[in-house]
Amino acid sequence: MLNILPERRRLFWGATIFGIAVAGLLLALFLLQLLLVPVLVYIFPGLEAPFYDLALFGVYRTQDYISFNLTSPQPSIVQWDDSCADGYVFLDPSGPAPGHHGPLVLDAHGNLVWTSDRFETTTNLKVQKYRGKQFMTFWSGQKAKTMGTGSYYMLDDTYRTVHKVDAVGAGVHGDLHEFKITRDDTALLTVYNRTQADLTGMGWFRGKDGWIVDSVFQEIDIATGRLLFQWKASDHFQAAHSYMTNPFGGYTEGIPFDFFHINSVEKDRSGNYLISSRHFHNVMTINGVTGQVMWELGGRSDEFKDLSNGKASDFSWQHDARWVDEEQGILSLFDNGYAWPHFNAPYSEGRFIKINFEAQTAELIQSFPSSGHALSSSQGSVQVITTEEGEDHVFVGYGSSAVYSEFTTDGQLLCETHFAASSSFWWERVKSYRAFKLLDWAATPRDWNPSAVINDGRLYVSWNGATEVAYWELHGAAIELGQEQGEWEELDIMEKEGFEMAFVLPSAPSSKGDGIKAYTHFRVAALDSARNVLRHSNVVARPPRSIVSYVLAAISAILCVAAFTAFWHYRKRGWKQVGNLKQLAQNTIDRTKYQKLW
Ligand SMILES: *[C@@H]1O[C@H](CO)[C@@H](O)[C@H](O)[C@H]1NC(C)=O
Ligand SMILES: *[C@@H]1O[C@H](CO)[C@@H](O)[C@H](O)[C@H]1NC(C)=O
Repeated sequence: MLNILPERRRLFWGATIFGIAVAGLLLALFLLQLLLVPVLVYIFPGLEAPFYDLALFGVYRTQDYISFNLTSPQPSIVQWDDSCADGYVFLDPSGPAPGHHGPLVLDAHGNLVWTSDRFETTTNLKVQKYRGKQFMTFWSGQKAKTMGTGSYYMLDDTYRTVHKVDAVGAGVHGDLHEFKITRDDTALLTVYNRTQADLTGMGWFRGKDGWIVDSVFQEIDIATGRLLFQWKASDHFQAAHSYMTNPFGGYTEGIPFDFFHINSVEKDRSGNYLISSRHFHNVMTINGVTGQVMWELGGRSDEFKDLSNGKASDFSWQHDARWVDEEQGILSLFDNGYAWPHFNAPYSEGRFIKINFEAQTAELIQSFPSSGHALSSSQGSVQVITTEEGEDHVFVGYGSSAVYSEFTTDGQLLCETHFAASSSFWWERVKSYRAFKLLDWAATPRDWNPSAVINDGRLYVSWNGATEVAYWELHGAAIELGQEQGEWEELDIMEKEGFEMAFVLPSAPSSKGDGIKAYTHFRVAALDSARNVLRHSNVVARPPRSIVSYVLAAISAILCVAAFTAFWHYRKRGWKQVGNLKQLAQNTIDRTKYQKLW
């Protein structure tokens, strides 16, 4: 007994010291992030991008505003070239890190332009032309794993929903993967339909009455909602030929087998449809009248001789197949190359592939990997844009990796932006189904005005979604006691940069007279580039000094007086007196000792 006691005590102290050391280390790390990181970044701005990618600012660094209630990502531009298009970037952030999965528009420098919490989960946000006018279009609804049930929205340049398009058929819903407006002003959309199918070919006791998710696409007349054309993968392809594996899929209605996974549709100039099947690793053209498959590139039934050592047709789990140049036979797609647990490629990339239908050949023309060779298990997009200088660039969104990049058509990386830490890409905390850059979106919200808020002597102003504001102009008005509000006077003007800006308010004079105006009310005018007023903000009054601030001021004054009196007191009577206080403290300790004994 006597021998064990000290042993235990040593253990106890050991554990305590270890615990304190660990807590100290954690505290040091916390302080490092809180204090050292900003200081280091201030001294060495070059460290900001690597720190961002190490998640030292968090996995998903966001920005708060004073005049606006939602947050936006604070992305990291890891590569920049002035020749990159000065357009808006359209994203649909999802995943565990962003709070709301709504639409998001940033400018080329990563500043917020528009976001909204009016809609459910949003995907495929972009601008499309319908009857000669620009519309912001997207899918919104409920996402269930890799598919969705929802509707397609078309917003005009005032952010009002002008058209809402739905899939046609009993019990079917619009799926998140595609909403493409054709040259004929019709809409192409995808439907993931749970249905029964003969799965005996797949073996493993799957029967004639197995369950699949069928991949359907529909062409719909936007004005009337009428169904014009419909195609179902199950009419042409067998689930047994899918590259996807799901040991539990297909047996029950609850876990149907997603054998085909259509993720893009577009109509070509001959009226046929170019589609992409992620789980068949192929792109193909569907006859616009008969629905027959006209040709297939990639996958098990590839019909083209590969002139690029397999690189023109070895894409897998791909997304977003588009004609870049139909006449030349050039198409683009995003080759994921990976879908857990299938690793088919070391990294994902955008690709340009040229098909020669006469010679039955396919050739890889160019590939577009991200600078860090991100490997994305899902999603992704490739878009050809024309810059202000009339040059063609390629804009790639890397889907489940939170990065988008801009290239020259011959594959030179010009600009790259991360909207989550690259060290976290593998965990897919933030992703965007597609990413688009658009140069010709111009919008002025009709249903809300610029928002002005006074905080700490500054007036903050922003206008969610407004693209045409070039200047903010501060107006002030004076109200004399018992009088009507005075005239608005222009006090200050500044060029709009970024989403939210702040004016320093003229300080309120303490007494009337002296020719100094006491402005009590303020508002901000949003001006366009020709300095025409687009809209006025709400009127904000300078907040009167609250009772709390008077009480705080009184307490501070009393404390100051007390401190000064004490100082004066000791200065006069000498510091030795302080020793008595020590004695007093000693007595107190002794007293507690006795109490403990009792
Ligand atoms: C933010 O939300 C709160 C609570 O809903 C609301 O009272 C406030 O006016 C909003 N502020 C702005 C700037 O929209
Ligand atoms: C969806 O599945 C149901 C149930 O099998 C079927 O009746 C219906 O025709 C399918 N709809 C489409 C558009 O494929």
